[in-house]
Amino acid sequence: MNRKRLDGQIAWISGGASGMGEATAELFAEEGAKVAVVDIQPERGQKVVEAIAAHGGQAIFLECNVAREEAVRQSIEKTAEHFGGLQIVVNCAGVVHVAPLHAYSEQEWDDLMGVNVKSIFFSLKHSLSYLRQNQRSYMVNIGSVGSFIGQAQTPAYITSKHAVLGLSRSIALDYAADGLRCNCVCPGITDTPMLRFHLDTTPDPQATLANRLRRVPMGVALTPIDIARAVLYFSCEDSAGVTGTSLVVDGGYITAAEWETTGQTKFMEPL
Ligand SMILES: NC(=O)c1ccc[n+]([C@@H]2O[C@H](COP(=O)([O-])OP(=O)(O)OC[C@H]3O[C@@H](n4cnc5c(N)ncnc54)[C@H](O)[C@@H]3O)[C@@H](O)[C@H]2O)c1
Repeated sequence: MNRKRLDGQIAWISGGASGMGEATAELFAEEGAKVAVVDIQPERGQKVVEAIAAHGGQAIFLECNVAREEAVRQSIEKTAEHFGGLQIVVNCAGVVHVAPLHAYSEQEWDDLMGVNVKSIFFSLKHSLSYLRQNQRSYMVNIGSVGSFIGQAQTPAYITSKHAVLGLSRSIALDYAADGLRCNCVCPGITDTPMLRFHLDTTPDPQATLANRLRRVPMGVALTPIDIARAVLYFSCEDSAGVTGTSLVVDGGYITAAEWETTGQTKFMEPL
């Protein structure tokens, strides 16, 4: 019999209504997990839950602003009560703010840090009592290539993604004795609503994307499922022995200081 990778596992996935979080929720359900889709977008979240149910999976939607501690606490508690425990926490919710630093208000800085960084603190704090009940448990945080390098016009975002990596390492150390492994997936250019929002801040979004992809050796944007597969790897025993580290999924983007993809690559052709 073919055992699925996440049979019997229960997962709380923030940002589960869209993009990478949505792909992760669907992949986890396919692999046998019961999934809490946690997000501020109820309509999209419900659709993800319906899609999972239509394929025979189990999921619930929980509306939650992950920048609010009480909301995170409640959504984790509901997840554990509804499904009967919790083994996997995926922090995928994120926002980007495009502006030079001097144009930020204090509120804009704090709001971004609340969603991208403080949410991880809250999710660890309030899931720990459940995670500790398992022999093995998993936290996966979504960083970015911006966890390692800079990017123009997004200083708070880049700071937040560096922090996600640092926080993931700290969590890995402090809770290893509890059986928790904590790792970070660091995506490159991935075709999601967030990418489209970011591109739309430029005068010619398609040209901006084409320009950016010339910096990518594979020559293509990643898809949400590419990232979901990396999250899955860190959320099961395929990655046994791996903690406090990061996996860059970026089509080779940050491998080269200088690069130009000029022609076709085989990655541009469908499989
Ligand atoms: N798309 C890219 O190119 C890219 C690259 C590197 C890293 N990332 C990171 O990947 C993660 C997922 O982003 P995505 O590209 O799938 O974008 P997305 O916009 O499709 O998904 C982000 C989700 O987070 C949710 N969210 C935002 N604020 C929230 C809040 N306060 N509480 C709860 N949920 C909230 C949104 O509603 C949305 O469903 C983010 O952390 C992002 O920073 C994206």
